[in-house]
Amino acid sequence: METQAPTASFTVIPNRRPATDEERWLAMEDPVFGKVFTDHMARATWREGEGWADRRIVPLAPIPMHPGAAVLHYAQQAFEGLKAYRWEDGSIHLFRPEANAARLAASCARLALPTVSEADFLAAVTGVVEADRNWVPSTAGASLYLRPLVMATEPSLLVQPAAEVDFLVTASPVGAYLSDGTQGVSIWVSRGYHRANPGGTGEAKTGGNYAASMLPQKEAKEHGCGQVLFLDAKEDTYVEELGGMNLIAVRADGSILTPRLSGTILAGVTRDSILTLLRDEGRAVEERDVALAEIIAGLEIGEIVELFACGTAAVVTPIARLVSDDFDIAVPERDGDDASVARSVLERLTAIQYGRAEDPHGWTTEVVPAPEG
Ligand SMILES: Cc1ncc(COP(=O)(O)O)c(C=O)c1O
Repeated sequence: METQAPTASFTVIPNRRPATDEERWLAMEDPVFGKVFTDHMARATWREGEGWADRRIVPLAPIPMHPGAAVLHYAQQAFEGLKAYRWEDGSIHLFRPEANAARLAASCARLALPTVSEADFLAAVTGVVEADRNWVPSTAGASLYLRPLVMATEPSLLVQPAAEVDFLVTASPVGAYLSDGTQGVSIWVSRGYHRANPGGTGEAKTGGNYAASMLPQKEAKEHGCGQVLFLDAKEDTYVEELGGMNLIAVRADGSILTPRLSGTILAGVTRDSILTLLRDEGRAVEERDVALAEIIAGLEIGEIVELFACGTAAVVTPIARLVSDDFDIAVPERDGDDASVARSVLERLTAIQYGRAEDPHGWTTEVVPAPEG
């Protein structure tokens, strides 16, 4: 795939009709995840033989598209999800944006899309945050969710890599997903459906994976569950991940067990950050194939004491129950908040993201300084 020169300046064309203060406050009061969008977006276009051009921060607007655009037919696209956080002093920071840039590049490579350079990625997300700094919430646990997207816009029904591609970044203020860290979600273990198969696109963040997860997600809802857990497609034995989050188990001895990045699992930035923090605490962390039977037996005999899911949107979601056609197992509640690894690691991670604690790994990047005075 094409590599980029590290020049990345996005021309800002300000929105002449931004939301009024009142409209913005109303929209940000209790935003439903991903339903409220800010005043601006980043956009750049790519043509085969020419590379990326027209890097701009522009007013948010619908993007007219030819009905034959390849992405609409063959789903040639890749996307990302990361957040900007407002610190107590008013400054705004991104969390590990380089990791998202690298993952987008890997997803684009798998989807035969042109790669967005790290410089372009960072300039685009920074440009949107700067333009829409008023949209970054200051309420506890809230943030600005950024959604970079690369998609094939060429009008062509030929099944081949598109010669015209768009890169977009939109932004949405989001509230705290999880106000009470002790609340757990019920998980439906999908038996009939798989999310990803070896050699497929499971490791890429691409829309088709999510399209395929909607029916199992519906099945989960019908069984009273909030999320789906997928098993591996080859042996139908090993737990992989949820529709939009990675899975982590805590053993009675305090050690951590999680499915390895086998090629069919999305390498979560939250997963990596949490495993790093848990290793920092001196915990043993095992990344390997984990059979569903091992999890069930572990829960039954008390060897596994906690299960939780993690991802950018919800950060950490404790799991209360695992359900399928042939079992329904409660994850025992831990005595008091202090015992919960999910809760303590959520607190440690969010303290770094919001600048309340030291950032020993250099994960945060300031994009808007604190206002003077
Ligand atoms: C399938 C899937 N797995 C895991 C994750 C967690 O990834 P991250 O922590 O980078 O948000 C996500 C969320 O983006 C996801 O969609």
